[in-house]
Amino acid sequence: MATDEIQSWAYDEPIRSPFALPRGALGRLAGRLMLWLNDPGELVTLIGKQGSVLEVGCGPGGLLRHIDADRVCGIDPSPDMLQLAARHNRGRDIDLRLGTAADTGHPDRSFDVVVSVNNVAMWPDLEAGVRELRRVTRPRGRLLIAWHSATGSSPIARKNSLAEEKLARIAQALGEPTRRHELRNLTVFERRCPG
Ligand SMILES: C[S@@+](CC[C@H](N)C(=O)[O-])C[C@H]1O[C@@H](n2cnc3c(N)ncnc32)[C@H](O)[C@@H]1O
Repeated sequence: MATDEIQSWAYDEPIRSPFALPRGALGRLAGRLMLWLNDPGELVTLIGKQGSVLEVGCGPGGLLRHIDADRVCGIDPSPDMLQLAARHNRGRDIDLRLGTAADTGHPDRSFDVVVSVNNVAMWPDLEAGVRELRRVTRPRGRLLIAWHSATGSSPIARKNSLAEEKLARIAQALGEPTRRHELRNLTVFERRCPG
């Protein structure tokens, strides 16, 4: 079964994993595992109740299902993941579209919160992704970038965690002031956009 190759800013070698750009039967299996393994609880609390939220790289839609907002949108480059996300969120009014961190397809200043979970290390260009996410965040809105935590309770999180120097690059790309939160299995960088 074919697995696409991704050249990312975070690794020297290209990534070949059905979790990175899930497609086909193996990709859908990876998507179901994500739904089973990921616990969105603490992140949902950090996001809070909002007017509008965009999840970038939403995968199978596990977090989307729990977001409490008047307008909930998700983008992902994988049509298979968008299909799973639609199925997992059946009955909810959610706007799902093809897109990437560098090209979300949404207008300027559209969202109160823009969140990315476990995909920042798959972006080809970190700075281009952060620029785009800031573009679609409203003034005073928040941008949250979460990645597997090195101190997580899950062995999967620990195995996939990034070196501190890579995490520092994420914080630097977001700019000051950026807060860092250590959740159970996620390290989250939060930047409030200027007013
Ligand atoms: C490990 S999954 C995480 C999915 C979901 N956020 C979750 O936590 O369950 C990574 C997701 O990132 C998506 N992805 C890959 N490259 C991307 C990019 N450049 N921009 C946005 N999303 C990307 C993949 O299609 C996949 O759905």
